[in-house]
Amino acid sequence: MTAHIIRPLESLDYEFVSSAVDDWWGGRPVRALVHRIFFEHLNATSFAIGPSDDVQAFLIGFVSQSDPKVAYIHFVGVSPAARASGLARMLYEHFFKLVGARGCTEVRSITSVANTGSIAFHRKLGFTLLPGSAEIDGVPVTLNYAGEGQHRVLFHKAL
Ligand SMILES: CC(C)(COP(=O)(O)OP(=O)(O)OC[C@H]1O[C@@H](n2cnc3c(N)ncnc32)[C@H](O)[C@@H]1OP(=O)(O)O)[C@@H](O)C(=O)NCCC(=O)NCCS
Repeated sequence: MTAHIIRPLESLDYEFVSSAVDDWWGGRPVRALVHRIFFEHLNATSFAIGPSDDVQAFLIGFVSQSDPKVAYIHFVGVSPAARASGLARMLYEHFFKLVGARGCTEVRSITSVANTGSIAFHRKLGFTLLPGSAEIDGVPVTLNYAGEGQHRVLFHKAL
């Protein structure tokens, strides 16, 4: 079994990750949400598994500058071939430990309503779905959170 080593995300990872994510998200165009600045400026709280030319998994997160007790996970992605082996859980738990040591007491994240895999994953990791402005298929959603028609599910986890 391969040992999975979590390392800081770095600028060199940008090219591989940005060209892979639309495929990893099942064809959804998310590339524009994975900006180069995250790879350059969020290294202390963002991680990857695998070499820069073959990243297996990555997490982009940060500590809120508005409220230092809150940490936020912007993106997590695992290569389809590496899924269901605990990599995303490893990255999340690493993030929880790191931001907890920095004094954060809460982690937040969001996902799109259609991303049922992400909703199931976050529930498994102990996140609560925050009340929204509507319910779709029994799931609380905040309507137009990311622009007109862009509804999102908001997650919260106390550390
Ligand atoms: C969601 C995603 C990150 C999960 O990665 P992963 O490495 O396969 O997840 P893990 O193996 O660490 O799973 C952790 C737990 O979540 C559960 N889980 C993961 N994906 C799931 C899914 N699609 N449906 C139901 N449960 C799921 C696992 O069963 C596991 O539970 P357990 O630890 O109790 O056994 C991965 O499928 C992915 O990259 N998806 C596309 C990108 C995406 O949607 N990202 C999230 C939104 S930013």
